[in-house]
Amino acid sequence: MAEIVIVPDAAAAGALVADEILRLVAANPETVLGLATGSTPLPVYEALRPRLADTDVSLVQGFALDEYVGIDPSHPESYRSVIAREVVEPLGLDPRRIRVPDGSLEGIEHAGDDYERAILEAGGIDLQLLGIGTDGHIGFNEPGSSFASLTRVKTLTEQTRDDNARFFDSVEAVPRHCITQGLGTILRARHLVLLAFGEGKAQAVAGAVEGPLTASLPGSAIQLHPHATVVVDEAAASRL
Ligand code: GLP
Repeated sequence: MAEIVIVPDAAAAGALVADEILRLVAANPETVLGLATGSTPLPVYEALRPRLADTDVSLVQGFALDEYVGIDPSHPESYRSVIAREVVEPLGLDPRRIRVPDGSLEGIEHAGDDYERAILEAGGIDLQLLGIGTDGHIGFNEPGSSFASLTRVKTLTEQTRDDNARFFDSVEAVPRHCITQGLGTILRARHLVLLAFGEGKAQAVAGAVEGPLTASLPGSAIQLHPHATVVVDEAAASRL
């Protein structure tokens, strides 16, 4: 079973996970981080910023979980832009060492394989940050995703498009497809750290941690991982 850590609030979670990342980078300057978007991991990046001031991060590598397909990379809500704005720039990482799946339509048929190869060439992901969708998705692996899946194109559910509409002008503007690390890709990372805050995530967290292993709740895949840590506030833990 995953290790469950209940913290008073998101800031405490951020501090805890930032400490773990700092330990990794201190031990290995070429640490490979699995980066997540969404609002949930933001406290980790915020906590890392001051703590990284005295650390050489020039060799740190990073791989984002996912990207929208067909979105202009310069769109402020493309995950390429989000990762640049919320992670790479504030933390002073080397943008050439931080990758996001390529969601451009040209070459989309080999973008998944290219991404898998890049992760392998980097030596695999040391610590993968994860949020969880209200429907239990991790990355953009929506319900029905195979536990063995690798990086590939998926269709977003209506619920995810509704949830993410807050970042766009309207729900119609939310892309319909995405490219995401698969559950199999995520399970290869050496340490999974899933964060969730608030009542709205309680059901997904309970399903991921204690529910049956099922493709209907992709987050339940973390139960297959030998080193998974779930960091939640009281509200997100309320159904455990
Ligand atoms: C998006 C991302 C996921 C993220 C989820 C939850 O769909 N692709 O990686 O975990 O949303 O988002 P939030 O953290 O904003 O609740």
